Amino acid sequence: MKSGFYLIFCSLIFVCCSKDEKAGLYDFIQVPFGFDKPKIPADNELTEDRIKLGKLLFYDKLMSRDTSLSCASCHKPELAFTDGLPKSVGIDGKFVMRNASTLTNVIYNPYLLSEGGVPTLEQQILVPIMEHNEFDTNILILAERLNNRKDIIDLSLKAYGRPPDPYVITRAIAAFERTIISGNSLFDNYLRNSELFSPKQYLGSTLFFSERTNCSSCHSGVLFTNFHFENNGLYVNYDDEGRKRLTGKDKDEALFKVPTLRNISVTAPYMHDGSFQNLRQVIEHYNKGGAGHHNQSKLVKPLHLTEYEKECLIEFLNTLTDTEFLSDKKYRL
Ligand code: HEC
Ligand code: HEC
Repeated sequence: MKSGFYLIFCSLIFVCCSKDEKAGLYDFIQVPFGFDKPKIPADNELTEDRIKLGKLLFYDKLMSRDTSLSCASCHKPELAFTDGLPKSVGIDGKFVMRNASTLTNVIYNPYLLSEGGVPTLEQQILVPIMEHNEFDTNILILAERLNNRKDIIDLSLKAYGRPPDPYVITRAIAAFERTIISGNSLFDNYLRNSELFSPKQYLGSTLFFSERTNCSSCHSGVLFTNFHFENNGLYVNYDDEGRKRLTGKDKDEALFKVPTLRNISVTAPYMHDGSFQNLRQVIEHYNKGGAGHHNQSKLVKPLHLTEYEKECLIEFLNTLTDTEFLSDKKYRL
């Protein structure tokens, strides 16, 4: 009787597992504890060859007009795919208008760039390729270049059944980007074992998730962003129009997509223009309550934090670092 039950139990597990395997979606992605299953477009399901090709292209300097830059020049894995600069530097030493975004968990972003104007990873790839301050070229030229490379042609045929062309270039890089998933920080482990936080980290977390600071009203959920567009009061007058660049509307002036805070300890400098060097400056900013831009969110207001509370908040933010992710070989050539 007992062993009969055991058999049924085992076969149930087996049925569940084989169902998941059939879906095939998650063979290359480990969905972290508490995260939703991410969506993957039907025309670009993940395969080993697609991810491999995407990674090769992500690191290939052939992608820029003068072959001096790759995606990885501005998105370095050890810095959670940022570049450590206030504003990125592109081709011929030209400045890019913004601070490089982290690509941490980018598979979950419903739209891309600070103004949210680009709906898919596949489409986003055209932006750096064409930007005069970034790769300054066009995708047809890149396809031509890649068709002189036997390793790339062979892999492209295996991955998508066609030689490298704009379809393949955009899809392969997007496939690689979808594997950039991070959910193994001290904070994640703390969710399963509450003894892991020091008293300071714990106090920092209660401040972060409190109505007193409102941090988690915007930096919410396991991704630490609600993906809304907000003004967090950096300036009275911004050089960058933010979401207004896309919509042309005054109500969107200086609104930026709320960024994730995962791996925040390694993605300095901060904000769309890299104007804060460290987390201390970020906390001082929020503590003052913002400069008072006419679109500033009501959630940003003076906090009256003590020195000790500021330290605790910073310690909490440091628990969002996923060191295994930052050194993971699968993101490197
Ligand atoms: C010269 C530096 C530079 C290069 C090269 C570059 N990027 Fe970026 N990337 C940036 C900057 C700066 C931003 C932020 C732009 C913004 O917010 O408007 C960004 C944003 C992004 C985003 C949006 C992330 C989000 O959450 O909205 C993705 C995805 C991305 N880059 C992928 C790539 C890929 C793929 C390549 C290569 C094809 C690449 N980048 C090349 C600097 C660069
Ligand atoms: C009203 C929504 C809102 C609230 C409340 C808020 N933030 Fe932000 N946060 C933002 C936005 C929007 C940005 C990006 C602004 C920009 O790029 O100029 C941001 C940026 C940041 C950054 C820099 C991220 C990066 O990658 O550059 C950190 C760190 C941060 N916030 C921490 C906090 C903390 C800590 C609190 C609470 C004290 C908080 N935020 C409260 C909306 C908010």
